[in-house]
Amino acid sequence: MSESHSPAQPLIFWFDDPQRVPADVADWLMEMGSMTRRFEKQGVTVTVKPKCECFVTRAELGTSEAEQLPESARYWVREVVLFGDDEPWLLGRTVIPEETLTGPDLALVDLGTVPLGRYLFSNDTLTRDYIHLGQLHHEQGDLWARRSRLRLSDKPLLLTEIFLPESPVHRPDSKVHNG
Ligand code: PHB
Repeated sequence: MSESHSPAQPLIFWFDDPQRVPADVADWLMEMGSMTRRFEKQGVTVTVKPKCECFVTRAELGTSEAEQLPESARYWVREVVLFGDDEPWLLGRTVIPEETLTGPDLALVDLGTVPLGRYLFSNDTLTRDYIHLGQLHHEQGDLWARRSRLRLSDKPLLLTEIFLPESPVHRPDSKVHNG
């Protein structure tokens, strides 16, 4: 049933007022291009390890998550850990209503270790409705998060990204070192 396929969602506090996010952090969170590319500019090799790729029902989504997406019988969920070299930098969770998985976008169920951004940002039908900035309490400290509702050919998907303690988002002094 659901538990093993749809792990409990961390409770993220989404800011009404994004001004509460420090400017150096907001600079990362408001990245409008591919976060994978932005990370690569830090001079690391980015790898993505899928943790779960499966269909779930609407009841299995987080409440706040379901509110961002239209009703659908099933949603494709992809959860990954993104590594910068060997450090875990980001947790990514993508929720895609089944109706979005039409035509070429059915490729989204076959991404495996290919970073999502490689698909999204090479697609000229991509648009973004909004980015929400947020924070969550974690055993390793408070972590920053963001979620974007994106559209491919006007069909919605929701991407939530949690930035882990070792990511440059939490190390604002980190420098680009590959030009
Ligand atoms: C993914 O491959 O699912 C992915 C990659 C990078 C992100 C978010 C999600 O920033």
